[in-house]
Amino acid sequence: MTPSVPSRLGYPHLGLGVGLRTVHFSHILRTWPAVDWFEVISENFIDSQGRPRYVLEQIAERYPVVMHGVSLSIGSTDPLDFEYLQKLKSLARRVNARWVSDHLCWTGVAGRNTHDLLPVPLNEATLAHVVERIRIVQDFLERPLLLENPSSYVTFANQTLPEWEFLARMADDADCGLLLDVNNVYVSSVNHDFDPALYIDSLPCERVVQCHLAGHTDCGTHCIDTHDGTVIDPVWELYARAHRLTGGVSTLLEWDAKIPEFDVVHQEVLKAKQWVASRDTSCALSDQPVVTPPPVNRRSAQADRCAVGHRPHSGRPGARESVSNPVAFLVGDAE
Ligand SMILES: [Fe+2]
Repeated sequence: MTPSVPSRLGYPHLGLGVGLRTVHFSHILRTWPAVDWFEVISENFIDSQGRPRYVLEQIAERYPVVMHGVSLSIGSTDPLDFEYLQKLKSLARRVNARWVSDHLCWTGVAGRNTHDLLPVPLNEATLAHVVERIRIVQDFLERPLLLENPSSYVTFANQTLPEWEFLARMADDADCGLLLDVNNVYVSSVNHDFDPALYIDSLPCERVVQCHLAGHTDCGTHCIDTHDGTVIDPVWELYARAHRLTGGVSTLLEWDAKIPEFDVVHQEVLKAKQWVASRDTSCALSDQPVVTPPPVNRRSAQADRCAVGHRPHSGRPGARESVSNPVAFLVGDAE
């Protein structure tokens, strides 16, 4: 049964897509694979006039393309970068980008760029700040923006809102779209010990325009969003749940490390068809089983190989871990 949902801000359902990566350029230009659409990292192309831009324009003539950014820094207190926004706008027009997305995060402050997607304190002050900036960005770009839920590893001491509530209110107040990264939901649910099914059920499904899928690294005590492998079954289960709620939206696989041949990446996202079909029943949503993330206080030999430091969890649902300086914890001794 497909729920009746509004039209996702008017954006289309593009099907199952793949993130465009440099290692696949030659293959794509040679074979024009039967993939539904591509997502590109905006920053890889906005300043390029060379081969990357040429390849993108060739691809954009044959496939739908959407732009996914990592530099908007919507949560920062730095002023919005209108030079960057103008570049986004120009490229979006040039390649007929179906939509433009970025992340609920901040990437730097005082003019410094950490090149990390850093979490924001989830509270009323941040919500008002982010909503105002989204509205400005949307007015400038002349189109609704999509913001993605990040994967995170720490929680601010002054958090007062669960992430799903923050996202829902942000989307409604700013009148923007959501890019639901199902793998990020799973990763954060392990790291923060919350119910990923509740997270997905709580989002305004009519505002979910796109889903992301990816692999991650399970370090035993925590998970890291590494995008270096296949999608695990619990993430597929969550994806199937999101599919039932949204009625199906454009879905993209991200694979950014240890990238295999294009066909392997493409086949991975095509698994979505089987997962959706196998879970497409008329059962009430609340009856659908969702794989519960494994206990958070696990240890494995993998843990010592993981790059991000570990903070123990309380084990209580909804419990929060506080750190005095989350940014330093994440990125080391920033200058
Ligand atoms: Fe993502």
